[in-house]
Amino acid sequence: MDFTNEIKKRRTFAIISHPDAGKTTLTEKFLLYGGAINTAGSVKGKATAKHAVSDWMEIEKERGISVTSSVLQFGYGGYCINILDTPGHQDFSEDTYRTLMAADSAVMVIDGSKGVEAQTRKLFKVCVMRHIPIFTFINKMDRDAMDTFELLDDIEKELGIATCPINWPIGSGKAFQGVYERQGKTIELFSGTQKGTRVGEVRTVDAAGGRLEQVIGAAAKEKLEEEIELLDGAAAEFDQELVSKGELSPVFFGSALTNFGVETFLRHFLEMTTSPLPRMSDHGMVDPMEETAFSAFVFKIQANMNKAHRDRIAFMRICSGAFTAGMDVWHVQGGKQIRLSQPQQMMASERKIIETAYGGDIIGVFDPGIFSIGDTLTTSRDKYAYEGIPTFAPEHFARVRQLDTMKRKQFVKGINQIAQEGAIQIFQEYNTGMEEIIVGVVGVLQFDVLKYRLKNEYNVDILLENLPYEYIRWIENEGIDMDALSGTSDMKKIKDLHGRPLLLFVHEWSVRMTLERNPDLRLSEFGRS
Ligand code: G4P
Repeated sequence: MDFTNEIKKRRTFAIISHPDAGKTTLTEKFLLYGGAINTAGSVKGKATAKHAVSDWMEIEKERGISVTSSVLQFGYGGYCINILDTPGHQDFSEDTYRTLMAADSAVMVIDGSKGVEAQTRKLFKVCVMRHIPIFTFINKMDRDAMDTFELLDDIEKELGIATCPINWPIGSGKAFQGVYERQGKTIELFSGTQKGTRVGEVRTVDAAGGRLEQVIGAAAKEKLEEEIELLDGAAAEFDQELVSKGELSPVFFGSALTNFGVETFLRHFLEMTTSPLPRMSDHGMVDPMEETAFSAFVFKIQANMNKAHRDRIAFMRICSGAFTAGMDVWHVQGGKQIRLSQPQQMMASERKIIETAYGGDIIGVFDPGIFSIGDTLTTSRDKYAYEGIPTFAPEHFARVRQLDTMKRKQFVKGINQIAQEGAIQIFQEYNTGMEEIIVGVVGVLQFDVLKYRLKNEYNVDILLENLPYEYIRWIENEGIDMDALSGTSDMKKIKDLHGRPLLLFVHEWSVRMTLERNPDLRLSEFGRS
């Protein structure tokens, strides 16, 4: 197959949701339809204590949760699909955000009985910042759901994106009968007997035919007709261009657990979403469709894959050209030629060594400690670099107390290494001359990860003293006079390792108040690494 076709058939996306909305279940059903697994229940058998591929770290095993995101590749209907899985646990990390930097689109899974929840809202912000297409799957329709119009309203109001239902549910919970497909004017009938472990058959009836009333009953038919009439008058029309720009989200209804609506969603989604997108470098746009030099950027570093060797795997997203195992590439930030040996790719149930990969694919390569998040690798003579990955606002902060002062060197080395991998962010007091370190994390679990890793890998014990701050803002003004800033009483000035000033706040309203008091001040929720 020629180069362009390889790229055209690729779809690289992330699935975002609040924990328990059904992301794992939906992912698993995608794999089931793609033939990558034969029976559902094998990806993350929580109940069977069989661990997912990504559970490398001891701490993950101990707790039975997945701390890091993994990547799954499989085929369906002629497409080559890369799913970037984001940790489903409440305590997600910055990795979850970064994963979205490597995706070309996002699937948002929403629990039909809950609407938009906190974690979805946070991840959604990153999608909006990147203007990537967002597709909504409203799940658990086999359980009592919120009113459908209310659900759509919730998405539009909470997230500020227009919605366009591609299908429409007929009832929910015990009364769930299936979905009405708006374009084809057909009904896909739900069958509760389908347990969802295998690909099932979906019965379809023509909504315009006389049989509809017989099949779903007079009351459901009347309600459906009323709702569709209202919907046709009120909802945004499908517009592929708006979808591509991330301004309109196509919405689908279903029940991942029972396989209902999953394949319909997958089929439409693969058609409506995008193949790998061009990316901005410091030499202009790089288009994956053009058969140019290989390039990729690092979006995640996974440490501790093998405890004996303290090794790390750097995950990179290929942006252009083709990758072949053992190829020599230029590491732009390191200023060195390196060989990418033993590249790995995550499959549904194992890691495997790969020979070739293309734009849109994610590969993991052995990292002897040279890579940082956002680094570019390329075979181009231009040696261009991709725009860095922003650092995302941590929401939990703690002062680090080192228990054995004799081990200062190991401590500094360890904490810097862990920060370089992007698991934590480290800061210092502003202008106090104190060397104390303040650590910031996106999810509190990362505090435990930090303690555990410093102890196990660097033999250093630390004590973390929690700080009350929850809001961090990067100061965008160059050369600002920090002493002249008029802040609130709960504001704290800190600096990052490059000496750049930042502000911490306990309350969100203090951020607004500080902005009001300092009209020239420009603050950002995203930092530059
Ligand atoms: P997550 O990755 O987003 O955290 O969610 P996950 O898929 O693990 O699903 C959370 C729970 O919701 C699971 O139940 C799962 O079986 C259930 N679920 C997912 N999709 C549907 C659906 O369409 N309908 C219904 N009724 N339930 C659904 P659990 O009891 O927490 O876990 P398990 O013991 O079943 O694994």
